[in-house]
Amino acid sequence: MDKKVQQEDVLAIIAPELHTYVEEHAALSELMDRVREGYNEEVYADALREIGEELTQHFVYEEEFILPRLQKHIPSDTAGPVMKLTQEHDVIRNSYEEVRQMFLERNPGEPNPELMKKMNLLAYLLKKHIEKEDHYLFPMASVILTAEERTEIADEIARAYALRGI
Ligand SMILES: [Fe+2]
Ligand SMILES: [Fe+2]
Repeated sequence: MDKKVQQEDVLAIIAPELHTYVEEHAALSELMDRVREGYNEEVYADALREIGEELTQHFVYEEEFILPRLQKHIPSDTAGPVMKLTQEHDVIRNSYEEVRQMFLERNPGEPNPELMKKMNLLAYLLKKHIEKEDHYLFPMASVILTAEERTEIADEIARAYALRGI
């Protein structure tokens, strides 16, 4: 399937206020494809740096701006999408910490099958998470959240980016 067409199709069913999230997903997903091509320390270093940034920015922007607003429309906080996606964020953070540690302790230039396995798993977890958000979370949030909530999210994203100088 043509990647560009697919991205356009996804964006077409997501509210414009949420598009930045989906655009960030696309860049990260492509990097994860490169990770999965084989053992490459340079690509791994790039990927870990990029994932580390996403965990303190993109993930936090979802947890603070979107999920609490979505939670208001869901009658339980012990089951459902917000609970599960928050859990996935934790799983990905733990996986990242484990891989980052293994990468730091590697013997540079010496292929490490265990590191490759864990790195591929992290890339897989991220790709699956992104797929879920692009095709379920964001399209559903687009119809569930009120116009006012979507505007609040857009404002908070804009403020967060402005603070980062973007
Ligand atoms: Fe997420
Ligand atoms: Fe996301």
